[in-house]
Amino acid sequence: MPNPFSYGGIVSGNEFCNRIKEVNDLIRAGLNAEKLFIHGERRIGKTSLLRKVINRFSKEDVIPVLINVWKCVDAADFVNACASRFAEAEGASGLLKRIRALFEGLSPAVTVGDDGKPSLTFERKPGRFSTAQLESVLKASWKIADSNRDKQLVVIFDEFQQIRLLGDDRIERILRSVVQERSDIAWFFCGSRAHLIREMFLDSGSPLYRSAGHYPIEAITDEDWIPFIVQRFEATERDIPEAVVRKLLEATSGQPFYTQLLCSSLWDICEPGGTATDSLMDQALDILLERESTTYLTLWNSLPEQSKRMLRAIALENPLESPFSGEVLFRYGFKSPSSAGRAIEYLTHHDLIAGSTIGGYMVIDRFLGIWCRNNFRM
Ligand SMILES: Nc1ncnc2c1ncn2[C@@H]1O[C@H](COP(=O)(O)OP(=O)(O)OP(=O)(O)O)[C@@H](O)[C@H]1O
Ligand SMILES: [Mg+2]
Repeated sequence: MPNPFSYGGIVSGNEFCNRIKEVNDLIRAGLNAEKLFIHGERRIGKTSLLRKVINRFSKEDVIPVLINVWKCVDAADFVNACASRFAEAEGASGLLKRIRALFEGLSPAVTVGDDGKPSLTFERKPGRFSTAQLESVLKASWKIADSNRDKQLVVIFDEFQQIRLLGDDRIERILRSVVQERSDIAWFFCGSRAHLIREMFLDSGSPLYRSAGHYPIEAITDEDWIPFIVQRFEATERDIPEAVVRKLLEATSGQPFYTQLLCSSLWDICEPGGTATDSLMDQALDILLERESTTYLTLWNSLPEQSKRMLRAIALENPLESPFSGEVLFRYGFKSPSSAGRAIEYLTHHDLIAGSTIGGYMVIDRFLGIWCRNNFRM
């Protein structure tokens, strides 16, 4: 019998737990042509949610365009990704002529895959793209909106924080003007690395400053997880008492990836016809911690001294609400509030900690948090 818990990839269908409110909110925002900056920590379920929303849009009413910035390493990749997705949205009929009209001043090579989807590539020469050409690719969205007035165009960027790493600061500026000039197109900018995303939308010097509303994606609540997890155990001939599920969710704080991972590990060691007990749950967690222990130790050894102290403080307090209070500085041995501040900056920059939804800071990798608590308890 296959393990009913899935982690790592995009989840859909009955593997997708809840998110009813988020799906409805984002569908409404799309139909209202809103500009939204959708953010959440790594592996919280952003891509799965975006895919769900796209699938729920009616084909008669909405043209969704999903552009994944993750694999882009430079502006040329970004241009190619945008062009291909816009061309796909425009459809394959009268392809070349229409695509030429869509991307004025650029001569893309068009290939059509077995699935009938067009893919575009522009010649890759460093520095080849002029500002006008970048504009032309992004303004393809306007042309699609103009030629489909009966439909709502929703442009969605996933892994949007990657834009900052492309080494071309024109992209954000051009995007801002393309996005701001039209109120009839919905734009979703979805990303994880909280500090980068925050810089992009909340720093007054940034081109996209306040250009979009916020939509945070948070962990799934216990009330939604419990029936999902119990049902998956029961459907595969295993029992799990609610108290054990609650304990499991306490360990993962409902973060989707870590919850599925721990459920999967627990299911593996639970015999068919058996019950997932408290002690099996501890064993499942130990197996995962053991598997990661070398990685965690290497990571720990690579941290500067004050960052070690801060990571330990955050793991033990879980969450750490007042990192600069005299009591916390004294208890965890920080030299000064500024050295605690620098440690927070370092850990945030390295994606090890994030602001928690219930206030304060927490360790992003829930199992690293537990590993710290187990090893460095005071
Ligand atoms: N709604 C959900 N129901 C159940 N599990 C989920 C859900 N959303 C996400 N997950 C779990 O979390 C994992 C990561 O999901 P997903 O890739 O959608 O997250 P993400 O936020 O896009 O991650 P990344 O930051 O790596 O891009 C999935 O493989 C799955 O195990
Ligand atoms: Mg993702």
